[in-house]
Amino acid sequence: MQRDKRTRDYTSMTGATYAAIADQFSRKRTVEPLPDSVRIDGKVCLVTGSNSGLGKAVAIDLARRGGRVLMACRSGHPEAGEEVRRMSGSNRVEMLKVDLADLESVHRLCDTLKQQGRPLDIVVLNAGLITVNARMSAQGYEMMFAVHFLANRALIDRLLSDGLIRASARPGERSRIVIVSSEAHRSGRPVDFATFGAFSDFGLADSLKYYADSKLSLCTWAQELSRRLNPDGEVRVSVNSLCPGAVATGIVREAPPLLKLLFYPVYKLMFQTPEKAARPVIYLCCSEEMDSRSGVYLHEFHEKPPAPLARDEAAGARLWEESEALLEKHASGGQGWAGDGHLG
Ligand SMILES: NC(=O)c1ccc[n+]([C@@H]2O[C@H](COP(=O)([O-])OP(=O)(O)OC[C@H]3O[C@@H](n4cnc5c(N)ncnc54)[C@H](OP(=O)(O)O)[C@@H]3O)[C@@H](O)[C@H]2O)c1
Repeated sequence: MQRDKRTRDYTSMTGATYAAIADQFSRKRTVEPLPDSVRIDGKVCLVTGSNSGLGKAVAIDLARRGGRVLMACRSGHPEAGEEVRRMSGSNRVEMLKVDLADLESVHRLCDTLKQQGRPLDIVVLNAGLITVNARMSAQGYEMMFAVHFLANRALIDRLLSDGLIRASARPGERSRIVIVSSEAHRSGRPVDFATFGAFSDFGLADSLKYYADSKLSLCTWAQELSRRLNPDGEVRVSVNSLCPGAVATGIVREAPPLLKLLFYPVYKLMFQTPEKAARPVIYLCCSEEMDSRSGVYLHEFHEKPPAPLARDEAAGARLWEESEALLEKHASGGQGWAGDGHLG
């Protein structure tokens, strides 16, 4: 299957910035932001990468609505947790350590969650990064592929096999998985399964291509996970993904100083604040409507299909099998989830 040629180009900094600004003017809302009155009292929420940017804004909002928020972060301990407590006015905020670039660290996080034994009502897979050149994760994978895709797959597999994600046909009793992707996935190249997982070198000129590839894998997995968890179409676990739109955060912190000098004023002027960009994430996490839906993709508040490549069922199944084979090499703790629709 070919890439969708009608989409914007997210593979260069100029193209991605133009696309982000153009999107601001062309998007239409199909759903509305949730009012503050919508509560999630007592719900347990795990948010990765919540020590800064979008993730922190999501953590604050969930805590304000009464959620018990577990911030799974690599850095920012304990200051980010204290800030989220202060900003939300809630004490039900904890920080947990995880480096998603290290599958062993992902398993250690899962061990801790398993010991605590609290099922998770809402899991927000938010952590992300753009590296300016090729870097290896602890297990030797390209960093963005490792953090955006492999770590999330390993984390959700473990949460499923440890029984910490609740599947239920009854409304309000099932877990929700919310996956923060990016419109850049539309510029992702089809996965080359002949070299799947192999590390390849790249420099600044190609870094956004690899970012797009990793987000395409993430979106493809999101669709496949939704199909596998809800095989007969009846929603038992809600799995939805989104692009939050352009957000003024530290995501391009690795860019060379000259590029930052050129682009930062545009970001400051044109891009959303993390608080505003968090609203569609909160909609997927907390709205009553999304409890009974799965496989949805939002671009901010606009529901639309993800790229054709991400919806390709054969590619989704192959990605599932190939990534399972990779992860088997690094298995630790619980058994991987069989992915056959039968939850523990
Ligand atoms: N900003 C945008 O315009 C935009 C647009 C579309 C999609 N997104 C997506 O939104 C999500 C959040 O990004 P952001 O814009 O809020 O950027 P950000 O402020 O840089 O936040 C990224 C978060 O991910 C964490 N992270 C990165 N690598 C990690 C690792 N190995 N282990 C654990 N945590 C790690 C960071 O932790 P550290 O602080 O420790 O590095 C940070 O908390 C990402 O998935 C991004 O792709 C952003």
